[in-house]
Amino acid sequence: MAELPPEEIRIVEFTEDDAEEISQLFRQVWPLAKEYPPHWRKKRMYTPQQIIEDMRLGYHYFGSRLGGKIVGVYKAIITDKGLFGEHQTVSPSCRVSGLASAMYMQFEQYAREHGCPRVYCNILVGQTASEHLMQKFGFRPWGEPYEQAPGMLVQMYEKPVV
Ligand SMILES: CC(C)(COP(=O)(O)OP(=O)(O)OC[C@H]1O[C@@H](n2cnc3c(N)ncnc32)[C@H](O)[C@@H]1OP(=O)(O)O)[C@@H](O)C(=O)NCCC(=O)NCCS
Repeated sequence: MAELPPEEIRIVEFTEDDAEEISQLFRQVWPLAKEYPPHWRKKRMYTPQQIIEDMRLGYHYFGSRLGGKIVGVYKAIITDKGLFGEHQTVSPSCRVSGLASAMYMQFEQYAREHGCPRVYCNILVGQTASEHLMQKFGFRPWGEPYEQAPGMLVQMYEKPVV
């Protein structure tokens, strides 16, 4: 994957059959995401059942496989405001290989194909990689930073879909 430019990384939609593997990736990545408060990291480690419930509520889980194994994922839902993305998670073994970038490109493409006026997401204030991705893909701050969880400041960003 590291040799591929982001536009050539294949992003697919996962199904309920993938819930166990997605849960394993969450349980691998989130304990190490020390920029986030411990209670939030714990909350991000969804069980397979939580993922299945999410899918039934209308969340789409998208991501990529390497050698058949899920190495990156995020979830998105269509709302009255646009396409909302969250929970982006990349395996430590695949970092800085363009996987998150490929997911942002597909995020916007999916929104365009489904008539969503914008893509939007919350970014942890001070999370260097994600703030860099916002700048790289032309997102702009939407509103003021706010506490998404106690002691955890996030900024919502949006990008109009044209
Ligand atoms: C944030 C995260 C999704 C980024 O994934 P990734 O696949 O490594 O990102 P990419 O390879 O697409 O890199 C995107 C850009 O950010 C830069 N970047 C990545 N990690 C970085 C870091 N720790 N510090 C500074 N820049 C970084 C890359 O150099 C790249 O820049 P470029 O495209 O201009 O060359 C990943 O680190 C992760 O899963 N972290 C833990 C969970 C998390 O914080 N999720 C965010 C939830 S909103």
